[in-house]
Amino acid sequence: MINDKLPKIWYGGDYNPEQWGPDIWDEDVRLFKLAGIDVATLNVFSWAKNQPDEETYNLDWLDEQINRLYEKGIYTCLATSTGAHPAWMAKKYPDITRVDFDGRKRLFGGRHNSCPNSPTYRKYAEKLAGKLAERYQNHPAVLIWHVSNEYGGYCYCDNCAKEFRNWLQNRYQTLEAVNEAWNTSFWGHTFYEWDEIVPPNSLSEEWEGGRNTNFQGISLDYRRFQSDSLLECYKLERDAIRKFTSDTPITTNLMGFFPQLDYFKWAKEMDVVSWDNYPRIDTPFSMTAMTHDLMRGLKSGQPFMLMEQTPSQQNWQAYNSLKRPGVMRLWSYQAVAHGADTILFFQLRRSRGATEKYHGAVIEHAGHENTRVFREVAELGRELGQLSDQLLDSRVQAKVAIVYDWENRWAIDLSSGPSVALNYVNEVHKYYDAFYQQNIPVDMIGVDEDLSKYQIVVAPVLYMVKQGYAKKLEDFVAGGGTFVTTFFSGLVNENDLVTLGGYPGELRQLLGIWAEEIDALHPDQKNSIVVSDESTRLAGEYTCNLLFDLIHSEGAEVIATYGHDFYKGMPVVTRHTFGKGKAWYIASSPDQAFLTDFVTEISEQQGVSSILHSDPGVEATIRTKDGKDYLFVLNHNDKESDLDLGETSKKDLLSGKTLSGKVSIPAKDVLILE
Ligand code: GLA
Ligand code: ZN
Repeated sequence: MINDKLPKIWYGGDYNPEQWGPDIWDEDVRLFKLAGIDVATLNVFSWAKNQPDEETYNLDWLDEQINRLYEKGIYTCLATSTGAHPAWMAKKYPDITRVDFDGRKRLFGGRHNSCPNSPTYRKYAEKLAGKLAERYQNHPAVLIWHVSNEYGGYCYCDNCAKEFRNWLQNRYQTLEAVNEAWNTSFWGHTFYEWDEIVPPNSLSEEWEGGRNTNFQGISLDYRRFQSDSLLECYKLERDAIRKFTSDTPITTNLMGFFPQLDYFKWAKEMDVVSWDNYPRIDTPFSMTAMTHDLMRGLKSGQPFMLMEQTPSQQNWQAYNSLKRPGVMRLWSYQAVAHGADTILFFQLRRSRGATEKYHGAVIEHAGHENTRVFREVAELGRELGQLSDQLLDSRVQAKVAIVYDWENRWAIDLSSGPSVALNYVNEVHKYYDAFYQQNIPVDMIGVDEDLSKYQIVVAPVLYMVKQGYAKKLEDFVAGGGTFVTTFFSGLVNENDLVTLGGYPGELRQLLGIWAEEIDALHPDQKNSIVVSDESTRLAGEYTCNLLFDLIHSEGAEVIATYGHDFYKGMPVVTRHTFGKGKAWYIASSPDQAFLTDFVTEISEQQGVSSILHSDPGVEATIRTKDGKDYLFVLNHNDKESDLDLGETSKKDLLSGKTLSGKVSIPAKDVLILE
């Protein structure tokens, strides 16, 4: 349990009483109680209020808010406010503002604008976190610490340049090793002194906002370094809080597949993962599901917090569609179905001015409870209040894992060639979606995860093979596992240096193939995957696009061949028996029909089954606790759907009804069956 002071699914969200006065505060509490809200996230952006000048700290207002809410039974998720520094600080200490990608020194403005290597930022952020912790260490209202807010963004200032060189010295020890790792003899880039190295931005090696670079090595290391720098800031605050409180958990809110930070590394420093979920109206349900699974995977399956979602609409998208009736509830339960133990909103009350005034909130500008949004929020609050603690800390158990790795993503994104259309997250999602459509649970895992608990491991576009990973995969397959990887895998090591001797480099032995060339075509240009063996489920012809590895078997069985072009007849899908298991290679990006058949085939072979046969758009997951299974059924469709629940009767925690056999689930509705 995240904190047993409140043994239920926490319900509430970001609350900014500092933007309002006492008349509104009382009304807020009345409305929170009406909506079943029991947690308020306070102090997210109040640094300027907490510290009006260098010497003064003013936290009385916060005492008042925390106490006022607590008296009414509303707990606090306490933020540290360091996501935006005060204006006076930027004026007095210019080192705190960032230098942007184009080398421009930023002035005061915006948020998430502090340089992570600014001595001023580090000093004052740490100090504020410490002051807050000292003051609220024993406060009964405080459930969890929320450090800063949505860390992100890179800086290219002189302090960062200096720290980057230290970071490099630490990683490589010698300049010779750096030159080697970055292959600097290319274009005569050899460095003879550490301070010849400058941050890679549009003034040096990169262009188009960092989508392109001349030197993948330095660009990759700069991403690692900036991710680590922000992580250092988080750790400084975390440790300052830890000095005063040993048992209140500490988190910071993450952002799913956010590209800039290596969250697997971050999660190791967090007590509980929390994240902010903002799908668009047309985001595929399986994309949201995959993101929840990734957030759960960051800490090997530990339940996570849904820290933010909008009750209705965003303000920062191009088209800020409203969540249709029932959708907020459905998506809230989708989070729980994938491992969330909290449902929190951004925001409880809509602000009156500035950029987020048109962002949805529990209390809208109308200011009362007679709104659709409030009614839906209150209805969900009532439901969550009736669920006891039975779901808390329950786990999702998957036999299938999909590997996702941020450093691999950086390397793919930075690669010059073979195709601008290659999008790592999309390729990962294609495979995820094929399992999702069949209601086969999947864990999204990092490269450090233990593989022995899985029957099937899929690593789409495993371009970068880190030290020891090939061996780990070999052991997994030798022991009976099924491994699947794709085109553009095994090419490089951690420094983006190609493993010579033929692709897929270190994975060659395991896969029993080698790739001689890689063709890239416009995504509209297709080839085909031809499976001529009539005896298999895969028999037939499918399409594929994007990249096309021209491979040769070195012991793998050829399951399918290309149907067109000068490489017609060459293998496109292979399967290699390795020890007791099988290693598959899919040399191009297949269509959905292929992936559906393929996933069915390998799942059947490994005895992995669907947890519920349902119509498309009806999602199912299971959370398990104390030997009991809770089957979540979520109907994302606009129409009712029929299901067969089988003979054993199950109790629906939401309606209290006992169900079995054929049942129907209304549009956008949810069942949680025990
Ligand atoms: C993020 C931030 C919040 C708010 C919301 C708006 O998630 O953390 O402060 O800006 O976006 O969607
Ligand atoms: Zn900087």
